[in-house]
Amino acid sequence: MIILSPSILSADFTILGEQMKKAEAGGNEYFHFDVMDGMFVPNLSFGLPVLSSIRKATQKVLDVHLMIEAPERYVDRFIDAGADIITVHREACCVPLEETIEKIHSRGKRAGIAIKPHTGVTSLEPYLELADMFLIMTVEPGFGGQEYMDMCTDKIKTLRAMLNEKGIDADIEVDGGITRENVSTVLDAGANVIVMGSSVFKGDITDNASYFTDLFRTYKG
Ligand code: DX5
Ligand code: ZN
Repeated sequence: MIILSPSILSADFTILGEQMKKAEAGGNEYFHFDVMDGMFVPNLSFGLPVLSSIRKATQKVLDVHLMIEAPERYVDRFIDAGADIITVHREACCVPLEETIEKIHSRGKRAGIAIKPHTGVTSLEPYLELADMFLIMTVEPGFGGQEYMDMCTDKIKTLRAMLNEKGIDADIEVDGGITRENVSTVLDAGANVIVMGSSVFKGDITDNASYFTDLFRTYKG
């Protein structure tokens, strides 16, 4: 199944609830929630109080992407605030990643591992059987509205092949610079959870979301 996860980082925060309803009218399954700490990435975004408010406003799966140093410190609090999936960066963890994944699973939530564009996919090898989702960043993390980095397409293909070889049916999420023009590239490469900020929240939100959910429902490659 191919899933649309609109990134609220590109929404208008003065009318966030309204904009999320507009996306929902287009049939998205997830909302992507980007947390930045000004250390792991050179930007700040939003955190726990915003997630708690959103939790009350939607039944959709809340897909939380922690772009923060030592994310294990915050796993419990983001779950308490309403996260359904927590994704942490391979590059950011101070304790063994297995412990962080275990912590997320022990709370009954799904765990993801993210890598930045210049981190090799082979670094995910030890975790293939442990995580539920692998997030390949297709821009340098920190900002919405950047251009897709073509070098990432091969990483998606390699990771899908690594998973297939072991018979693992995990999700591959892609995040950054995905548009109507290049979405088929990431789908054909093997991604199945598609994050989009600008491509959903800029312009007519419902039309944008429906365009992608219709495409994903019938996508044959
Ligand atoms: C970037 C974030 C993305 C971002 C994507 O660090 O992780 O989720 O919101 O935005 P677009 O789709 O505009 O590149
Ligand atoms: Zn993200």
